[in-house]
Amino acid sequence: MTERIIIRTGRVIDSATKFDAIADVLVEDGRIAAIGAGLVADSAREIDARGLVVAPGFVDVHTHLRDPGLEYKEDIASGTRAAARGGFTTVCAMPNTEPAMDNRSVVEYVLREAAARARVRVLPIGAVSKGRAGKELAELGDLAAAGCIAFSDDGAPVWDATLMRRALEYASIFDLPIIDHCEDRSLAKDAVMHEGWVSTRLGLRGAPAAAEEAAVSRDIALAETAGAHVHIAHVSTRAAVDAVRRAKARGVRVTAEATPHHLTLTHEIVAFGALGGEELAYDTNAKVNPPLRSQDDVDACVAGLADGTIDCIATDHAPHAVIEKLCEFDEAAFGISGLETAFGLCMRLVNEGRIELPTLIARLTVGPVCALGLDRYVPGIGTLAVSAPADIVLLDPSAEWVVEPERFASKGKNTPLGGVTLKGLVVATIAQGRVVHESGVPVA
Ligand code: DOR
Repeated sequence: MTERIIIRTGRVIDSATKFDAIADVLVEDGRIAAIGAGLVADSAREIDARGLVVAPGFVDVHTHLRDPGLEYKEDIASGTRAAARGGFTTVCAMPNTEPAMDNRSVVEYVLREAAARARVRVLPIGAVSKGRAGKELAELGDLAAAGCIAFSDDGAPVWDATLMRRALEYASIFDLPIIDHCEDRSLAKDAVMHEGWVSTRLGLRGAPAAAEEAAVSRDIALAETAGAHVHIAHVSTRAAVDAVRRAKARGVRVTAEATPHHLTLTHEIVAFGALGGEELAYDTNAKVNPPLRSQDDVDACVAGLADGTIDCIATDHAPHAVIEKLCEFDEAAFGISGLETAFGLCMRLVNEGRIELPTLIARLTVGPVCALGLDRYVPGIGTLAVSAPADIVLLDPSAEWVVEPERFASKGKNTPLGGVTLKGLVVATIAQGRVVHESGVPVA
């Protein structure tokens, strides 16, 4: 049994039901029991949400939990603790584990560990190919039966177009999407950052924006041919956003995500750090794949997010050990530990008047749920409808805080945002009726 909780007098924003009003939310038996003004709830724990926003818990369709096999970077307990701190009540676990999640037994392991140790819901994503090697299809039917909600070789593209075509055809039998990491590696060979003036200045090999566009265009053509669903992971370029927009307009089953970092940060960060400075930083914590791009690309991603071309925000939380970043830029691992900064970073877009808060919340809740059809696994997920699971986040959009990576719950301290002040705080997270995070920061 979980506690009875009443969340009083917050601004409740539920994008799925278009609800936006001051109200109380009553939680009973792990579900939303009632929403309305002046609810009576004897013996319930009271949470005062005056001045706060109350929204459905965020859903991340792109999380690297690193478990099994890479627990020195993250494990299911630490990764889901980080998720709770970031306001996420569901995370979809990417399969680039060791071994890869390319067979039923690894999925069973992840679900078992999650049941025993996770703070929030974990939904597994199976690999497209055996060992993520891009040669032979994994047993997608078996993976689907074991509980995978999508397939991806993320970290690597499905570079063989015929394998991708067969994967799309096979996955469509189960009505599941292929999530592709879109990168033409013949164009991006040995690249460590975005190709542009910064890569030239730093003397580092760059990946041209065209490497993403080429892969996205191929995937759209194949999805159209197969009548299948492709989901484009971490869109980062103007051309990719445009390609997705055009494909959606002619009815192709394509959905897309963008990360908080690709929506807010540019390649200049690699050179000068997020706090800016004169000295060249060569900040390995800003090394990520796809790389941080130009301001024009960022603007296009934000426009795509605003108009729905980009269905959802996904963190691509990619935790690494200190040693994997404390080295030469060329040698450093790709990835940003993103769960705990996602909301604060995305709030920049709201604070700068580029998107509305309800739109941001939609892209973190109902957006990912609809993009990947997650409500067939968890009815009511991403909403605050009565009888939906009590996955709830309490947000203070105006609270400022300084990013201190050493205090992350994630084992991955690899963020370029250390020392940066963000405006927008996750005050508390409730997952399936349990309080799984309380910020401890005095609230309004
Ligand atoms: O930067 C990245 N890190 N991009 C990816 O696609 C994979 C990820 C990882 O697993 O570290």
